[in-house]
Amino acid sequence: MDVSSALQVNLPVIWVLITTSTAYAIYRYLTSSFSYFSDQGIPGPKPWPLVGNMWGIWKANLPKYDQQMMKKYGKIVGYFDGSLPNLWITDANMIRSVFVKDFDHFVNRRDISLKTRVIRKFLTMMRDQDWKDVRSSITPVFTTDKIRRMSLMMKDCADQLVVKFDHIAKSEGKIDARAQFSIFTVNVIARCVFGMKIENLGAEDDPFLRNAKVLFNPPVSKTPLILILFIYPKLLRTIGERMFIQKEFQYFTYLLENLIKEREETKQKFYDFVETAKEAISQYTKQVNGETVPAWNKDGVDEIVIAQAVLFLLAGIDTTATTLTNSVFQLAGNPDVQEKLHDEINSRIEQFGEVNHEMILDFPYIDQVIHEVMRLSPALPSVEIVCNKDIIANGVYIKKGMLVTVPTYALHYDPDYYPDPFKFNPDRWSPENKSNLNPYAYMPFGRGPRNCVGMRFAMEEMKIALCIILKQYRFFPVQETPDEMKYEDGLLSVVQPVFATVGIELRQ
Ligand code: HEM
Repeated sequence: MDVSSALQVNLPVIWVLITTSTAYAIYRYLTSSFSYFSDQGIPGPKPWPLVGNMWGIWKANLPKYDQQMMKKYGKIVGYFDGSLPNLWITDANMIRSVFVKDFDHFVNRRDISLKTRVIRKFLTMMRDQDWKDVRSSITPVFTTDKIRRMSLMMKDCADQLVVKFDHIAKSEGKIDARAQFSIFTVNVIARCVFGMKIENLGAEDDPFLRNAKVLFNPPVSKTPLILILFIYPKLLRTIGERMFIQKEFQYFTYLLENLIKEREETKQKFYDFVETAKEAISQYTKQVNGETVPAWNKDGVDEIVIAQAVLFLLAGIDTTATTLTNSVFQLAGNPDVQEKLHDEINSRIEQFGEVNHEMILDFPYIDQVIHEVMRLSPALPSVEIVCNKDIIANGVYIKKGMLVTVPTYALHYDPDYYPDPFKFNPDRWSPENKSNLNPYAYMPFGRGPRNCVGMRFAMEEMKIALCIILKQYRFFPVQETPDEMKYEDGLLSVVQPVFATVGIELRQ
């Protein structure tokens, strides 16, 4: 038999060999990381090629999914985002190592470095020294004095909300808490960050509210498409850029560009974020050849200010609205706590004359209530960070590029840290009981140097709102109020309460 006829006879065999060896090579490539955790004896669900453990995640209920995962596998779990190892931890010592002690190894979030002007300066996306500089430069915006001034604007917004509550209490007698608090928190960001007053609060045709709503709820998070973004970060960059460069995003950018221009032509003081951030960022310096010079030129400063203002809109509205919604939900179901808080608010108003920044300072019981609400219903389902240098943390080898995630619901419901974890019990946080709690088992605002930069702002806003509302209204369960809070399914960055209707009545 000559060579060509031998090849002809064996052609199907050769094709089968090529196809199977290529398929095997691809399979080996796609699963090459899958022994990463098992080699270290770390348990976890079985990963699958391409999707890792993420199949079906777009329709999962994250709070429940995460709790089930940690209940099944323990406090240190090996999970895969596609082929990328992602160490899930609810062990408080490990959390301390990663987020505080060894923070130099864990500075950045998942790399989605978008290149578009303004977005590239979002604090959440910035990395390493660039992040440190911008974070340090905007920190003065949240000092006590600046917060006190913004507190007056927050109070104004809460007073506007009360006008709406008054009408609802007299008519329907029940509120969709999530819808009402979303309008309130948009109003607060519009006032405190964008320097705008929204007159017709909650009107559907208000462009600020309409555009903000579109930015918060990208429909992609409830479809399998979201998987591609997690598994192939390069696509995330391309698609992400398209998702963000849309007219709603540009609406806010133009608004801020115009505001900055107007402000340059006036000497009037506004005490809002744009003004204080511009001052603080302009004053931030760096060393060049032994000389101290401004860290950014004027265009650089403006871009950073605009970026953080838009980011605060994204980061500060749903988070705070969700927490306020959960607060009235818990208070409706726990009348004893509601009455105690109401009495304490009244006695402090007697002492300070009104609800204001001084009145909410050093007010332990309202802190206890909000802490417990955020333990049971943290607004973010998880906090994640990327390892930038190989390290052994608490006995686990974590390699560069790998993710570490804290599933917050699983952590906050762990009975080892919180006895009777499903019980709403603000007394856990009382001055005498607090020392029994492990601070690393509580992460509603994250932990360590990369924690929530808006935490003081958010706490001020929520306390002012709750004091103003609770002094006048009582909340109670109605037929539509579920026994326990339910959350929307999907891979959402902020947990969204559903069926958040509670009764409301004016106190006599
Ligand atoms: C109840 C309300 C809020 C909650 C529960 C919350 C929660 C969080 C969490 C868990 C993180 C991630 C922290 C980490 O990775 O360790 C974060 C980051 C961040 N938050 Fe908040 N947040 C809230 C309100 C706000 C507000 C009102 C603003 C702005 C005014 C804001 C701005 C930010 C920013 C810019 C970051 C990124 C910080 C960085 O990368 O350096 N947040 N927040």
